[in-house]
Amino acid sequence: MKIIHKPRIMSGLSCKIKMQHKTIGLVPTMGALHEGHLSLIRRARKDNDYVVVSIFVNPTQFSPKEDLKKYPRPLKQDMRLCKKEGVDIIFYPSVEMMYPKDYKTYIKVSKLDEVLCGKFRPGHFQGVTTVVAKLFNIVSADNAYFGQKDAQQAIIIQKMVIDLNIPVRIKITPTVREKDGLAMSSRNAYLNQKERKEAVVLYQALKLAGRLIKQGNKNSADIIKRMQYLILTKKSAKIQYLAIVDTQDLRLVSRIKEKILIALAVSIGKTRLIDNITVVP
Ligand code: PAJ
Repeated sequence: MKIIHKPRIMSGLSCKIKMQHKTIGLVPTMGALHEGHLSLIRRARKDNDYVVVSIFVNPTQFSPKEDLKKYPRPLKQDMRLCKKEGVDIIFYPSVEMMYPKDYKTYIKVSKLDEVLCGKFRPGHFQGVTTVVAKLFNIVSADNAYFGQKDAQQAIIIQKMVIDLNIPVRIKITPTVREKDGLAMSSRNAYLNQKERKEAVVLYQALKLAGRLIKQGNKNSADIIKRMQYLILTKKSAKIQYLAIVDTQDLRLVSRIKEKILIALAVSIGKTRLIDNITVVP
């Protein structure tokens, strides 16, 4: 397994691989790898000749108030996990290499970045699309893997690739959960014992909504109210948003007629967690 720091070296190696007509799968991450990340890596391993995992805690997607400094960076452990999963290359650039002093270019996918998480994290998705576009250009992957866990991120990246004619296939893989249903996230490490228990309520609320829809309830406002009641039984929970939206354009759906995305962001203590499911009525 190679560890590459410089974008120029990474591009050169990708070029060599492509000249041999071999395929490259890219798994972009911010490190602190868990089973969710590993599921993407395993899928990439199955589909491609070469697997590149990028590890880069991208500063442009964090607002000044967010957890950039305290974001976990267990690099040795990440390297061990990648090696075990048969990763060929870890791309691990420094902030200076990705964003030199005179850096000026940003990519914005309009509208889709203004709803759900975008409303509460202005500039976040612009940071994500910018770094992901750079990674696509540096790695020249045939396939790139993203988790359904960050549904809005996946939808926005998908749109960017279409709109900018970026020659990469986006593959979205299911959310990996803990035994009790909590979606795996590097941020779960911030939860204390009591918060960790209460955090299960995010998935319980999503499952409740799913059940109501399957039973024939089509009224989003009613479903959201019932989710709200359930979540607020937990003392540490503070709801940022609960929304039932279209799976393509993320527009609010008030009457449920076809497949929808139920997405939420809830703070458990000081830790902001997100989760979602899709439901077909
Ligand atoms: P990060 O949070 O490290 O996540 C990397 C990838 O793992 C994302 O595609 C995310 O959706 C996926 N993932 C995280 N938790 C998951 C889970 N429980 N089940 C399945 N997949 C999961 O998302 C980012 O990094 C960054 O925004 C990035 C795309 C790397 C750009 O900086």
